[in-house]
Amino acid sequence: MIVLGFESSCDETACALVEDGRLIAEHIASQADLHSLFGGVVPELASREHLRLIHRLHQRVLDDAEISPQDIDVVAAARGPGLLGSLLVGLSYAKGVALACDVPLIGINHLQAHLLVAELEQPVTYPALGVLVSGGHTQTVLMESALQYHVLGKTLDDAAGEAFDKAAKALNLPYPGGRLIDILGQNVPPDRSLFPRPYIDNDNLDFSFSGLKTAVSTFIDQHPHLRLKSMPASPDATMLESFPHELKVVCSSLMWSIADALRIKVERALKRTPEVQSIIVAGGVAANSRIRQTMGELAREHNLAFHVPRPAFCMDNAAMIAYAGWKWHAAGYQHALNIDAIARGGKIPDDMIRVNTDTEKCLAEHFA
Ligand code: KG4
Ligand code: ZN
Repeated sequence: MIVLGFESSCDETACALVEDGRLIAEHIASQADLHSLFGGVVPELASREHLRLIHRLHQRVLDDAEISPQDIDVVAAARGPGLLGSLLVGLSYAKGVALACDVPLIGINHLQAHLLVAELEQPVTYPALGVLVSGGHTQTVLMESALQYHVLGKTLDDAAGEAFDKAAKALNLPYPGGRLIDILGQNVPPDRSLFPRPYIDNDNLDFSFSGLKTAVSTFIDQHPHLRLKSMPASPDATMLESFPHELKVVCSSLMWSIADALRIKVERALKRTPEVQSIIVAGGVAANSRIRQTMGELAREHNLAFHVPRPAFCMDNAAMIAYAGWKWHAAGYQHALNIDAIARGGKIPDDMIRVNTDTEKCLAEHFA
C-alpha cells in the first residue's frame, strides 16, 4: 500500500511517499528565506511558491522511490488548519493526482499528523498524552488511540512558536527565529527571574503566551543594546557563537520560561489522565532543545514512554501527511473529491467517508 502525501499548509512545500507505514521518499522546499525578507509569512507569496514547487517535488519523490504514478494507492493532503491559499494549492493538486490515478483522496488534519508522525519512528503505546507545540498551535490532547482524540487544553491567544518568533524579531534575528533562539540559548544557564512563566497561576489546562511575548518585547525595548544592529541574513554557528553573552542569556531564559510553563500544564494534564502510558511532543517547537529535555525528564519522572520525533519530523513535512493518510486508509476511510480546505482557527469537519465497514468506527474529535 503506497500513499503519496502533500503538505502545503504554511511556508513549506513538501511531498512524501509512505509504503506500508514506512517512509520511502520525501522532498521539502522551505520558503523561509523568501519570507524572512518580510519578517513573517506573506500568504500570497506562499501560495505562489507552493504552486511553483509542488509538481517538481512530486516528480522527485517518484524518481527517488523509482515508482510510477500507477503504483500509488492513495493520495493524502493537508486540508487544514493553515493558510487558506496555501492549503488550496496542495489540496487541489492532490485532487488532480487522485483523479488522474483513479485512487482515493484523504484530507489530513495537519495537527493530528504532527502527533501521529511519532509512530513513523517508534511504536506508540496508547492512551498517550499529545503535546502539540507549533508556530500556530499549543495544545494538550488525550490520544485514546492513534485516531481517537480529545483536546484537554489549548492556548487562549498566541502559540509558543509565536512567542519565540516575536522575541527573535525584537532582537532583529531573521524569521523564523525559534531555531536561532534555541542555538543561542543552548548551554547557557537561564536567568529564571528575567521573564514570567505565563498563565500558570490557575487550575486549568490552557495556555497563554501573549503576556510573555509582551514581557520580552518590553525587556528588549528597555535594553536596546541587545537588539542586533542589522539583521544577519542567514547566521551560521560561528556568527551566533560570537553574539554577546547577555543576548544568549535572554534566549536561554525565554526557553526556560516557555518550557517550564509547558511542564506545569503537562504535569497537571497527566494528573487528570492517569490512564496515559506515554507522552508525545510534536510540532515545530518540539525541535527546541530545552523543551525536549524538560518533557523527557517529565516522562521519566512519571514512568511514561517518551516520543519526540527527530527535528525534521517536528517541522512541517509531508512524511507526517502520508503516514496519517496510510493510517486513515487502513482504518477504512477516505474523502469525497469536494473536500474543502480549512483555514487557521476553523473547525475541521467530520466528513470522512467510511468505505470499509469491517473496521471499527474511528472518530477523531477534530481539534483546530
Ligand atoms: O510546526 P511548524 O513547522 O509550523 C506550524 O505548523 O506552525 O512550526 C514552526 C514553528 C516556528 O514558530 C519556529 O520558530 C518554531 O516552530 N521552531 C522552534 C525551533 N525550531 C522551529 N522554536 C524553538 N526552538 C526550535 N529549535
Ligand atoms: Zn505544523
